[in-house]
Amino acid sequence: MTAQRRLGIVTLVIMLGLAAWSWRILRQGASDDSSVRQTPTARAPASNLPKALAVHTQARAPVPPDPTNRFADDARAVALGERLFFDESFSSSGTVSCATCHDPEHAFTDGKRIAQGEGTGSRNTPTILGAARRRWFTWDGRADTIWSQAAEPIEQPTEHAFDRTRFAVAIRDDPGVRRLWEAACGALPAALDAVPKGLAARPALADGGEGDAMAQSWAQLSAEQRAAIDLVFSASMKALGAFQRTLDMPLSAFDRWADAVGRGTVSMDDETAGGIITPAARRGWLLFSGKANCIQCHGGREFTDGEFHNLGLPGPDGRLGGDPGRRGAIARLKTDPFSSAGEFSDDPDGAEARLVRSLKDDPETWGQFRTPSLRGVALTAPYMHDGRFATLAEVIAFYDTLEGAIALDHHREAVLQPLELSAGERSDLKAFLLSLNPDTVPDGRLDTVD
Ligand code: HEC
Ligand code: HEC
Repeated sequence: MTAQRRLGIVTLVIMLGLAAWSWRILRQGASDDSSVRQTPTARAPASNLPKALAVHTQARAPVPPDPTNRFADDARAVALGERLFFDESFSSSGTVSCATCHDPEHAFTDGKRIAQGEGTGSRNTPTILGAARRRWFTWDGRADTIWSQAAEPIEQPTEHAFDRTRFAVAIRDDPGVRRLWEAACGALPAALDAVPKGLAARPALADGGEGDAMAQSWAQLSAEQRAAIDLVFSASMKALGAFQRTLDMPLSAFDRWADAVGRGTVSMDDETAGGIITPAARRGWLLFSGKANCIQCHGGREFTDGEFHNLGLPGPDGRLGGDPGRRGAIARLKTDPFSSAGEFSDDPDGAEARLVRSLKDDPETWGQFRTPSLRGVALTAPYMHDGRFATLAEVIAFYDTLEGAIALDHHREAVLQPLELSAGERSDLKAFLLSLNPDTVPDGRLDTVD
């Protein structure tokens, strides 16, 4: 070997050594950087997890902003909204408040099959918990903001059976509420002063006949008085919206398990689920996101696609139920003065409003209902838009057998097929739904109430 060659080899060895050394340094640096992620409490890459679970390992986003409500996150509006929510004087008999049906004792539902206020309604009461996360409100989506939804129950004969005029006058004449109102929304409009106490007046109801006594009284008020009443009414609804935005559905044991799996502290394959949820709940999740394919509609962080489906639930006579659901709701939303696109919206040209204007009412939506979130579902029996199922076991039995379901070619969801589950699988699914119970249930009472 020539001296020159020997020198070449030595140089090569030195260079390789240097390269290996700097590679080690680099690697060390990298692993130092990622030490937070690599330790046992670190988050495993979500891509290793099935997509359905990976969604739940991410931090939960806060309740989305509501640009259509200028009071949405104002603490003074929240205090006013809390007062209005629990106050029974805003009803014709003085015995009904929002909390009559959205009762904190029942996770902000009433535990009844069908809502009962001043009269008997036709649908089951959904919870307010987490409602601010919804895309559309009510079972048929005829409201598009949480605050505008509140306008309807006040004037519905079966709910508060009240009207916006007595509502505004009650605020004017009750010093306590008036103080809260003016702190949140500014001075009451002067045109309200001369509106007589006890006058019941509102525009004709969307689903009522024309020309009832209250609608006639409304027509007799001056334009300024009507505008003042609408201003007080809509601002009060926005305060109710602000209050309801504080009532989020807390996270559950299931979220803690998903988080632990995401971090790599509990293996997805660990049948004991690290003791965070029961083994049955874990098996139930695998069914829910696998063979039973519930996530087709109840997917995502809130266990709902936010969309509307027709499950073919039969009416009492075994034929398709009489509730048209989504059909007609779009037309109502488009003409609702309290929608995001309406005259009382604080963002009438925003994305929400543009979406409302672009919606098309379609006969195919007949009998469709909104997929409910399943968070806390064990606390909100009975189930479905008409409260037909008393227990979760009954709901699961329906999906399992589809007994009685109407297979109307284009109306029924093609995705629903009888599941033919074993008794054990049914109870696993139920155990999973129970694991979605919130860790705490808010009671809606503010600490600092005037
Ligand atoms: C008589 C019982 C009753 C009263 C009183 C009542 N609600 Fe409701 N609430 C219901 C029912 C039933 C629904 C579902 C309506 C539908 O789908 O047609 C509902 C739906 C809602 C929703 C939509 C929830 C969702 O997930 O879409 C909100 C928000 C709401 N109510 C707020 C209020 C507020 C605020 C008040 C007081 C101003 C109030 N409710 C008074 C029974 C009631
Ligand atoms: C095709 C979409 C779809 C699929 C698939 C689906 N659901 Fe539903 N789910 C809905 C809709 C829509 C409703 C409301 C129906 C109504 O009220 O008429 C609902 C209602 C429910 C309710 C009642 C919730 C309440 O608050 O009243 C539960 C519980 C439920 N589903 C669980 C499941 C389970 C478990 C599976 C899988 C076996 C499943 N769902 C599959 C769309 C679906």
